Amino acid sequence: MEVLMLFFLFIFILNASALKIITPGDSIKDGETLESDYGIFELGFFSPGNSNNRYIGIWYKTSNTTVVWVANREDPISDNNGVLSLDNNGTLALFNATNALLWSMNTWRTPREPVLKLLDSGNLVVKERNDDNPLNYYWESFDYPCDNFLPGMKIGKNLVTGFEYYTSAWKSSDDPSQGQYSLRMDTRGFPQLVVKKGSETVYRVGSWDGHFFSGRKPEENPVPIYSYHFVMNQNEVYFRFRSEVLNSSFISRYAMNPSGLMQRFIWREERREWQIFSTAQADICSTYNLCGSYEICGSNSFTPCSCLQGFLPKSLTFNSTNNMLDSGCVRRIALDCKGGSDVFFKLTRLKLPDTWNSWANSTMNLEQCKDLCLQNCSCTAYANLNAKERTGCLLWFNQLIDISEFSEDSQDLYIRLAKSELDEIERKKSKGKDKAVAIATPIILTMGLMLTMALLYKFKTNAGKNKERMELTIFDFATIAHATNNFSTANKLGQGGFGCVYKGLLEEGREIAVKRLSKDSGQGLDEFKNEVTLIVKLQHRNLVKLFGCCIKGDERMLIYEYLPNKSLDNFIFDKRRNKLVDWQRRFNIIDGIARGLLYLHHDSRLRIIHRDLKASNILLDHNMNPKISDFGLARMFGGDQTEDKTRRVVGTYGYMSPEYAFYGRFSMKSDVFSFGVLILEIITGKRNRGYSDPDNNLLQHAWRLWTEERSLDLIDADGGTAYTGSDPYITTEMVRCINVALLCVQQRPEDRPNMSSVLLMLGGESTLPKPNRPGYFIEKDLPPSMAADDYTSRGPSKSSNELTITILDAR
Ligand SMILES: *[C@@H]1O[C@H](CO)[C@@H](O)[C@H](O)[C@H]1NC(C)=O
Ligand SMILES: *[C@@H]1O[C@H](CO)[C@@H](O)[C@H](O)[C@H]1NC(C)=O
Ligand SMILES: *[C@@H]1O[C@H](CO)[C@@H](O)[C@H](O)[C@H]1NC(C)=O
Ligand SMILES: *[C@@H]1O[C@H](CO)[C@@H](O)[C@H](O)[C@H]1NC(C)=O
Ligand SMILES: *[C@@H]1O[C@H](CO)[C@@H](O)[C@H](O)[C@H]1NC(C)=O
Ligand SMILES: *[C@@H]1O[C@H](CO)[C@@H](O)[C@H](O)[C@H]1NC(C)=O
Ligand SMILES: *[C@@H]1O[C@H](CO)[C@@H](O)[C@H](O)[C@H]1NC(C)=O
Repeated sequence: MEVLMLFFLFIFILNASALKIITPGDSIKDGETLESDYGIFELGFFSPGNSNNRYIGIWYKTSNTTVVWVANREDPISDNNGVLSLDNNGTLALFNATNALLWSMNTWRTPREPVLKLLDSGNLVVKERNDDNPLNYYWESFDYPCDNFLPGMKIGKNLVTGFEYYTSAWKSSDDPSQGQYSLRMDTRGFPQLVVKKGSETVYRVGSWDGHFFSGRKPEENPVPIYSYHFVMNQNEVYFRFRSEVLNSSFISRYAMNPSGLMQRFIWREERREWQIFSTAQADICSTYNLCGSYEICGSNSFTPCSCLQGFLPKSLTFNSTNNMLDSGCVRRIALDCKGGSDVFFKLTRLKLPDTWNSWANSTMNLEQCKDLCLQNCSCTAYANLNAKERTGCLLWFNQLIDISEFSEDSQDLYIRLAKSELDEIERKKSKGKDKAVAIATPIILTMGLMLTMALLYKFKTNAGKNKERMELTIFDFATIAHATNNFSTANKLGQGGFGCVYKGLLEEGREIAVKRLSKDSGQGLDEFKNEVTLIVKLQHRNLVKLFGCCIKGDERMLIYEYLPNKSLDNFIFDKRRNKLVDWQRRFNIIDGIARGLLYLHHDSRLRIIHRDLKASNILLDHNMNPKISDFGLARMFGGDQTEDKTRRVVGTYGYMSPEYAFYGRFSMKSDVFSFGVLILEIITGKRNRGYSDPDNNLLQHAWRLWTEERSLDLIDADGGTAYTGSDPYITTEMVRCINVALLCVQQRPEDRPNMSSVLLMLGGESTLPKPNRPGYFIEKDLPPSMAADDYTSRGPSKSSNELTITILDAR
């Protein structure tokens, strides 16, 4: 008997803090928990992240920091005296120490004998004690998901009551209240799953194709235990996935993080951690409507948008209302429509267009679908509703938007075109075949010729080995005037303190950029030629190539290679194009600039201080490789009378190191400072200058986040970098770049690394020291009398063109 009592006592103690069921009158105090039958989930009080607030949440017992649901997400308790209780009416309520009601949930039917139970699915339910039928639950937490989408939850809408099931992200990792992002079912047209930021769609998972959502394949399950269901009837539309195996040791969940990324996690028991299995927003084409109407997005090329077959690009116009380029395509040949002669062109392997204005029928076949589309002039395309079984009909009545290439399962879309368009496509196809045959023979001949020429060239260069090979080309004025349409305004690319830049086309077809220098440069002819000769010898893939110059009277011009993608600032500071630059490209740009700068500082035969490194001086070639421009040019503006103007050209506020701004002292380390600022701008997509409060500029901001160990918060959440997800390799690379940037912008020049260490550090080949506080200055503190005399007298040398000298010493 005593043994038995001891046994019961033991059981009682074991279960004292982990209840399995709550009946009216019971309560859960802070510190106590409610557990599911198999102990998979647990409910209790917790504090998220660095917050001290208390919330009631449900978490996995194996991973008690992974909170999958929060009851009082908008109504936290500030101390440890919260109590959760159930009353006879089935109302669940949370009270604080003074018995004030903070949060409650009532049922709409009056129960007889209500109990509160946490199920092993993670669903918290109020039900009748002896009734386990889910249809009879009085209340369930699965109807009110937070940021986690668990097996068994729904996303969709009750079409009768209008009740919406959706998941919504936390505000931040410290604050579980509803943030900006949510995953919802858009039920206009044929339903589709979308991620919204506020009321704006930012990502479309797509419409149901009978198997999964168009544009997104259900990932191969390591353990094939899930089934995916899309239910659509008169009463409701929803999506749900379910585990077909009960009590499985395999745990997986979808969650939306505070910046709106939808990720699927898998629990790795052996490592006791969550592994990111996939991220829904996988690439830049995930950005909703990144391309315009009738454009298709392909993430494999730098220019991801291209027009659909039979469409031409609209002329680009800049919309100053939303600060974006209006893009998109228009029909090459108008539809006939009423004449009934329109045809359809089949596109394959697509994420189908936005279905917000579509119509569906699940029993029609493709032929009927086509006929129906032809009957309505506003019908632009059709497709099978069920892609796998090739049944049903889906019609589009709007401009086709948000289409992407999709290499997985084939999704076919039939787009409506004018009949003559299809003839044209057929003609091109057969012409292409003829051409291929015709070309075959001459290619062999040409190759032979090229080989001979190459050999000849080799002989020639060997012969002239000792001669300087990089000759300076002096272009004559007429050639340049002709190439630039007589320096027409239509050819003008930009203007700066130094003069204007024009685009030009030489007769041989080569594109050039012509920099026409202001006439008051005050430099002698020999000096100018001498400098140009030096610069022309700077050959590096990360420096803009100077072809030559042009001199006429007192007019001086520099002739450069033309780079179609213009400068970096056009990309990273532009709301839309910013999305085109993903992390890989950003890192490649940072690395390229570092290599170019290293060459200027150490590797070229000259030692060159750039002194005006900034985003607008980094040009991008068609592959987005960076090329430093404007190096060594500023010095040509020497002359005592133009200092004020020159000073602006030489340095740019926001990039200038403090010692340069205050004392005019410049060195390689002042370039390193500018480089550090540039890294931070590339990472954040924000200008250092342009912060409204100069005391709180980008450097200060970066430093503060760094000291709080939150430097990843710097990453531009709206830009292309967002889509790299939380790949640990990439986040390490991001943190490394931020660390290097902070080392570069330190106050004391001697603390800053030189460019060869910077490159080693970027490559991860060297350990990173901890940075000191960044150096900065406030523009308004600059001495107003920062006059030229003052400025030059503190410089390292005092020659006549001192103020702007760039090339310090030839090695
Ligand atoms: C989570 O588990 C750890 C270790 O098992 C424990 O120290 C901690 O108190 C738990 N936290 C919660 C909220 O239960
Ligand atoms: C339960 O509901 C009844 C009827 O609505 C109400 O009179 C009663 O006060 C409620 N009881 C509690 C504990 O809220
Ligand atoms: C309980 O909540 C009420 C209402 O929010 C508040 O006025 C009161 O100060 C709280 N009591 C404690 C002990 O926090
Ligand atoms: C549930 O799974 C665990 C671990 O795999 C196993 O020990 C237990 O017996 C299972 N219970 C049931 C009811 O299947
Ligand atoms: C410019 O953008 C605004 C806001 O998105 C939009 O309402 C307007 O129609 C656009 N203008 C043009 C000409 O497309
Ligand atoms: C779908 O098409 C079939 C065959 O044309 C028709 O009988 C049925 O009524 C249609 N259903 C709806 C919902 O329009
Ligand atoms: C064409 O389809 C649109 C959208 O469903 C509809 O509003 C319109 O009435 C249809 N026109 C004809 C002629 O059927």
